[in-house]
Amino acid sequence: MASLERRVAIDAARAAGHLLKSELPGSRRIAYKGSPTNLVTEMDARAEELIVGRLAAAFPDDAVLGEECGATAGRSGRRWIIDPLDGTTNYAHGLPTFAVSIGLETDKRVELGVVFDPNLDELFVAERGRGATVNDRPLTVSTAATLDESLLATGFPYNIREAKDNNLTEYAAFSVRARAVRRMGSAVLYLAWLATGRLDGYWELRLGPWDVAAGSLLVEEAGGRVTNLTGGALDIDAPALVASNGRIHDAILAVLGAIRGGGPT
Ligand code: IPD
Ligand code: CA
Ligand code: CA
Repeated sequence: MASLERRVAIDAARAAGHLLKSELPGSRRIAYKGSPTNLVTEMDARAEELIVGRLAAAFPDDAVLGEECGATAGRSGRRWIIDPLDGTTNYAHGLPTFAVSIGLETDKRVELGVVFDPNLDELFVAERGRGATVNDRPLTVSTAATLDESLLATGFPYNIREAKDNNLTEYAAFSVRARAVRRMGSAVLYLAWLATGRLDGYWELRLGPWDVAAGSLLVEEAGGRVTNLTGGALDIDAPALVASNGRIHDAILAVLGAIRGGGPT
């Protein structure tokens, strides 16, 4: 990966993160994306404009997929995948648990991932084949070998009130098998924290490409494993995800398989 892409992505993630943090204490204009639990604030759009503006200026031939602005075509075979504010519900409530995520895909494989948490001032970077770092320190996943000693995380779909397949059965099952299950409202941070070894495993039934692009590369480059819910390859355009330190991966898949059918593939 040329250092220009890495540098531009890092600068954009930092700038967006600092903007979000500086505006956190302000009052929010909240809108709803289709359901009363799916919030969006004006800061999601402002952070995304900042990021997309910088990427488009530096790499005009690349495609862009942003959570708020959607897809813009390119002709280079590369695609930037952006979550300008992961943890919008936290943000809207003034809770300082959110992050900025930028991934760069080449020929449908994520090659670069950058995540910035402005509240802990942690910058996570991964390049395929070159490892993952937090604030330039190398990252390695945890060594937990059983669910019993594992700290897991999950999230729920925004249509939790209507959807039958809403993760509550899975949440109950893991809650009595793991040391604990956390639910902190940022898929991007779960993946980054998994890469650091702070979490041992994470699953979620329905996510967006922007939730997983950068973070899944962080986990893999830190030595962990990322799959779909049955152990197959993650579909980045419609992600249903299991991520772990590798050691407890099959145990997570087995619990999901017992509830949902379809075992590890
Ligand atoms: C959401 C968060 C949440 C996860 C949802 C995501 P957003 O992203 O990552 O933890 O459970 O599935 O959509 O809307 O805050 O960018
Ligand atoms: Ca998100
Ligand atoms: Ca978002």
